[in-house]
Amino acid sequence: MKNTHSFQLNDRTSLPSIGFGTVNINGAQGVTSVLSAIEAGYRLIDTSTNYNNEGMVGEAIRRSSVPREELMISSKLPGHSHEYDKAILMIQESLYRIGLDYFDKYLIHWPLPKRGKYEEAWQALVDAQKFGLIETIGVSNFLPEHLERIIEITGVTPATNQIERHPYFNNNELVEYNKSRGIITEAWSPLGREINDVLTNDTIVAIAEKYNKEPAQIIIRWNLQNGILPIVKSSSAKHQKANLDVFDFELSEEDIQTIDSLDKGEAGRVEGQHPNEYEEFD
Ligand SMILES: NC(=O)c1ccc[n+]([C@@H]2O[C@H](COP(=O)([O-])OP(=O)(O)OC[C@H]3O[C@@H](n4cnc5c(N)ncnc54)[C@H](OP(=O)(O)O)[C@@H]3O)[C@@H](O)[C@H]2O)c1
Repeated sequence: MKNTHSFQLNDRTSLPSIGFGTVNINGAQGVTSVLSAIEAGYRLIDTSTNYNNEGMVGEAIRRSSVPREELMISSKLPGHSHEYDKAILMIQESLYRIGLDYFDKYLIHWPLPKRGKYEEAWQALVDAQKFGLIETIGVSNFLPEHLERIIEITGVTPATNQIERHPYFNNNELVEYNKSRGIITEAWSPLGREINDVLTNDTIVAIAEKYNKEPAQIIIRWNLQNGILPIVKSSSAKHQKANLDVFDFELSEEDIQTIDSLDKGEAGRVEGQHPNEYEEFD
């Protein structure tokens, strides 16, 4: 099934409703995985300097028969380059690595509030957008206080905020805050990565059986019906296809609430990465 549904953003561009994640997808095998994802219908590809795979993603783009302008390529600014000048150079370097002359979307990966440089980083993204290096600018792992600060300083609201969200950590308060600001939420690790067991959770499995769908499809649908864009990773062509085959059924409100009730609060985070504490590696 083609990934044709879309989210309208506050900068008047749009994004496909499901993105393809690339953490730990690297090298020659990674090229094969990204190519099969594009073949399956994914058009939004999520990478990051921290994933050490922007070159691999670029190679897949060049080998793909899908024209560049039909793909939405998104990367992220690492914490070591939050200072304004470093951020501009990092964006340029990332473009050289991936072999593109612009990113469709680019995010600040983590706010790192203890370092106190994310405001400068946001100003750099705002300017890089004006220079034509990035089409849509957004953030990742930003809490309301970080969002309020960058909006106050620059007057520019991010189009997207990519945050941790899966059934054990639904992050609903932040999702609601994003909505109130007109920011589209992207969900990272929607299937709990390889770390938690949401895909074999009894409640999710029972709901999946009821709709004759797979657990992963239920979780993806739970995101879409909440207005959230899931970024899903799979190295398997079969799973890649299945994860797009979610437009022929609708979860009931009751089932959505049942999935919401699986939330474990802070204890549910896959790796305990609270955005005010987490210091990404350099
Ligand atoms: N902004 C941030 O700070 C941040 C942080 C983490 C992640 N992310 C982004 O979010 C993306 C997704 O998160 P993630 O990679 O952590 O993990 P995820 O998408 O939650 O889960 C991936 C795991 O689910 C399995 N899977 C996928 N589809 C399946 C299906 N239909 N049935 C059964 N198993 C299935 C995959 O195995 P197979 O390969 O065998 O299918 C893989 O083990 C990342 O790749 C990255 O792009 C961003």
